Amino acid sequence: MIQKIQTLSGYIHEYQKSITQPEEFWGRVAESFHWQQKWDQVVSWDFEKPDVKWFLNGKLNITENIFERHLYTLGDKPAIIWEPNDPSEASITLTYRELYEKTCQFANAMLEQGIQKGDRVIIYMPMVPEAAIAMLACARIGAVHSVVFAGFSANSLADRIIDCQAKAILTSDGNFRGTKTIPVKAVVDEALEKTRTIEKIIVLKRTNIEVTMKEGRDIWWHEAIEGVSTAHQAEVMDSEDLFFILYTSGSTGKPKGVVHSCGGYMVYAEYSFANVFQYSQGDVYWCTADIGWITGHSYIVYGPLLAGATSIMFEGVPTHPHPGRFWEIVDKYKVNQFYTAPTAIRALQAYGLDPVEPYKLDSLKVIGSVGEPINEEAWHWYHDHIGKGKCPIVDTWWQTETGGILISPIAGVTPTKPAFATLPLPGVQLMIVDNEGNELKGNGVEGNLCVKFPWPSMLRTTYGDHERCRQTYFSSFKGLYFTGDGVKRDHDGYYRILGRVDDVINVSGHRMGTAEVENAINEHPKVIESAVVGYPHDIKGQGIYAFAICDLEGRTEASLKEEIKQTVSKIIGPIAKPDQVQIVSGLPKTRSGKIMRRILRKVASKDLNNMGDTSTLLNPDVVEEIIKGAGL
Ligand code: WT7
Repeated sequence: MIQKIQTLSGYIHEYQKSITQPEEFWGRVAESFHWQQKWDQVVSWDFEKPDVKWFLNGKLNITENIFERHLYTLGDKPAIIWEPNDPSEASITLTYRELYEKTCQFANAMLEQGIQKGDRVIIYMPMVPEAAIAMLACARIGAVHSVVFAGFSANSLADRIIDCQAKAILTSDGNFRGTKTIPVKAVVDEALEKTRTIEKIIVLKRTNIEVTMKEGRDIWWHEAIEGVSTAHQAEVMDSEDLFFILYTSGSTGKPKGVVHSCGGYMVYAEYSFANVFQYSQGDVYWCTADIGWITGHSYIVYGPLLAGATSIMFEGVPTHPHPGRFWEIVDKYKVNQFYTAPTAIRALQAYGLDPVEPYKLDSLKVIGSVGEPINEEAWHWYHDHIGKGKCPIVDTWWQTETGGILISPIAGVTPTKPAFATLPLPGVQLMIVDNEGNELKGNGVEGNLCVKFPWPSMLRTTYGDHERCRQTYFSSFKGLYFTGDGVKRDHDGYYRILGRVDDVINVSGHRMGTAEVENAINEHPKVIESAVVGYPHDIKGQGIYAFAICDLEGRTEASLKEEIKQTVSKIIGPIAKPDQVQIVSGLPKTRSGKIMRRILRKVASKDLNNMGDTSTLLNPDVVEEIIKGAGL
């Protein structure tokens, strides 16, 4: 297992080594894994192409590193503890041995259903143990999983199926979330009206709602595993074989499939998990994310299980059946490391301290934050009332593309600072550049956050479109990976993330492209043109504000606004639904016809200072009208 960093000087030493001798450094970390064949070169890279490879010609299977590597010592230890949506339903504990057997059995079942190495498999499932089993079984046979958050619409699901030409879908009849029962299989059926590649659907029975099963294509999960062997020899994977695809939004067009590969992802997932959270054997760790996001991949499933940890999986929502549910679960399982998102913290903070007070929370050692900048107020509330002033907060900055945490305190080892992600992990070589790409050296600087050297779990490509990967991440600043985030390095050298500098909005820690939301709005027959911007939102971090030019004939403004919201919800999913819609007669445009989003952002955030010169616009009058229309 990985040797954890234990002291501040240990961190400084390890960081130095990782940048002066990266090959030796990562080679040594990788030694603690089980390789069927050792690599013959640690790294080869070229950010211009981009072409990045780690542990070249190494052969491995990540599930052997989760199971076979641990079974003798940890076979009877809980791997996953599952807490259901309804607290009166029994929880489920799967030991490493049980999870291993279920993974192997489902791997065999998938093979029997004709799913093979290299096939793309969509996982569209609720937060149940079978979702983790589905991921692990894909990894076991070398099928490429693409998990799609079960809150996405049929249309979004179809886009992803088409983009990766998926052969199979692993899903469930329905999904329990809070007081709702959500039909899941029905959404899959609707998506499939638009796609042609799916040959097999395996359906888990979770809610017992009625579903349609298509003869020959659809099979129940429990029938697929009936009588199937629980022994399976792991597929041999090359270090650079495609491991999984995860779709994420950008500033243009449709979501892109971020591609991660086998060897580097494995090494970095365990390394970052063990260090950041300082997990010790016997600890109980809980990350509240959904497996549909990268956080669920790296820090519910792969990182913790590689480290032999006990990982809690929670099916429900933070406020059901009461706003103390998170804290109740922390006490119930004596959680030691708790990892959640600022939006959840702020939402719970809004209920005051009554829901927190009944709970001891004294098992907690480390509390974490991820997904968006955590504001100081939420940081202090989390620190004082959840961590009781004694737990370091690990504010972890990373992205779907980075595969693992790049900037974060190491719990109890390196210092914390409210609202700062603080310092890079070993192996992570950051660079701040101005808009012309000049490096901003020294402390007390602010600019665009880039990385100048590869790290093992970085994305390798965007599925089916390598040029898009190059354009998006490697062309803004020559020779650098550009994150899309603005950052400040303060006088002490600590990093504070300032948020996106591109047309991406971060809603409750979920990434939305403004163009993507606009495209959805424009699908409404009464909409002529639209522009979407983010604005500060108390709970969500950022809310979605849409300006739309519409043909109002036959509608009232109120009914049309509601229809527009519903259109987005239907096309992308409820998470993309605009918080505000304003009907306008025109959008502020430059003489070349470009929408001046800066002005719209000012209006949406109710801040009319520094509007800048609007007289050079194509249509300066429209600004006054928009300001009035916004009630300002
Ligand atoms: C974007 C990545 C990484 C898993 C969850 C989101 C923002 C993420 C932080 C943080 C400030 C953060 C960035 C980043 N972000 N973590 N600790 N502090 N901002 O993954 O959907 O790929 O989004 O989330 O803007 O670029 P994602």
